[in-house]
Amino acid sequence: MTADIATTATPGERWAGLPQLPVLSPEYQENPHHFHQVAREQSPIAVLPFGLAALTYDAVQTVLRDRRFHEPEALGLAARGVTSGPLWDEAAQSLLSLNGEEHRRLRKLVFRAFTPAGAARLRDTMTDVITELIDAVSASGQCDIVTDIARPYPIPVVCELLGTPRQDWQLFSTWADDIFNMFNFDAADAAPEILRALDEQRTYLDTLVDSRGHALGDDLISSLIRAEEDGDKLTHDELLMIASTVLSAGTDTTRNQLAAAVQVFCDHPDQWALLAAHPELAPRAVEEVMRHTPVVRGAYRLAVEETELAGVTIPAGTFVVASTVAANRDPLVYDDPDRFDITREGPEPMLTFGGGFHYCLGVHLAKAELATALTILATRMPNIRRTGPAPWKSLIGITGPITLPVQFDPGH
Ligand code: HEM
Repeated sequence: MTADIATTATPGERWAGLPQLPVLSPEYQENPHHFHQVAREQSPIAVLPFGLAALTYDAVQTVLRDRRFHEPEALGLAARGVTSGPLWDEAAQSLLSLNGEEHRRLRKLVFRAFTPAGAARLRDTMTDVITELIDAVSASGQCDIVTDIARPYPIPVVCELLGTPRQDWQLFSTWADDIFNMFNFDAADAAPEILRALDEQRTYLDTLVDSRGHALGDDLISSLIRAEEDGDKLTHDELLMIASTVLSAGTDTTRNQLAAAVQVFCDHPDQWALLAAHPELAPRAVEEVMRHTPVVRGAYRLAVEETELAGVTIPAGTFVVASTVAANRDPLVYDDPDRFDITREGPEPMLTFGGGFHYCLGVHLAKAELATALTILATRMPNIRRTGPAPWKSLIGITGPITLPVQFDPGH
């Protein structure tokens, strides 16, 4: 297939000669990788309907690590029709919206609470949860990976991380679903539900933090209460904001990535069998799945001063997408980038967790969750195959399969 990529060739146009990416077109949504490849062959930077996109590994890393590119205010709500009011105020406080010194201070305080050891502490919970979910479908040899496995999986894990009772996971699940609408195109319409969920969640977390203050444990809330740098500590409101960001950043991402992973493996049965036979490949499998088929496809930034990027002058005020999905298939970095291969030797790290100042704080947890789930699924669902279409959500925001009906050999 040949992508229909026009170039902004009119002399005098701001980015004359750069390839355009028609990200809103059905053709792009159908086969984005092909469009990235064709555009990247012309330039590391492409033009979007609303700004620019960095497409190469190098350019993406530069955008993520250069302080002249800021997180857009209030999670970029302005692009979705919200420019003030309570929803804007909520979004503006999120760790993901902060920049400069304000962000640096909070990262320094909370960073140590998200250790590999903290993620390892939850391995037993992850194993119990995924085992329970598979037990429910194993005998029948069929299920919908999205609804039966991937959706319910991360919430009890996040509850354990925060140190909340397991039986409250339904509450967290509903809040996370509602709050996540903040990242959707229809955020303005969904504002009442988002605000109600944020309010209920805050009341819950408020009580939790107060009660934990009297008996600190090894959970995240306790670590955040303990966190101190040079005499500085998180305020109560900052602590609630971090906990709330973790809840929203750490659920929809993992569940969609797990479903996407199983879908890729359904298309590569040899790799599924390989993982079942060699569970030690799990960390590499996670890396490869998230490189090849990520559900978070980029990070949004705003140039706050004139900047040069890969030879292109970018004026202040330009919206720039660091397209990690395109960078993950940069042929200068990955040999035969479209190939899915969980035995790749020493590849450069994929960029699906972002990079630089806002690099995902949950990276250790997410990797452990995915590795645990995939290892057990590969063993207990041998010979997995799709039994129907697996359409995806729009590629804007967090994406992933809406449904993934499968069959597998029962009784394992
Ligand atoms: C597959 C799963 C996940 C993916 C793909 C993912 C991806 C990302 C990305 C790309 C960013 C940076 C966004 C930016 O630069 O604008 C980010 C930030 C963040 N993630 Fe994750 N994430 C995942 C799981 C998690 C989990 C499980 C947690 C929590 C336990 C978490 C907590 C966070 C937090 C708190 C931030 C904000 C960091 C900051 O702004 O300084 N994430 N994540």
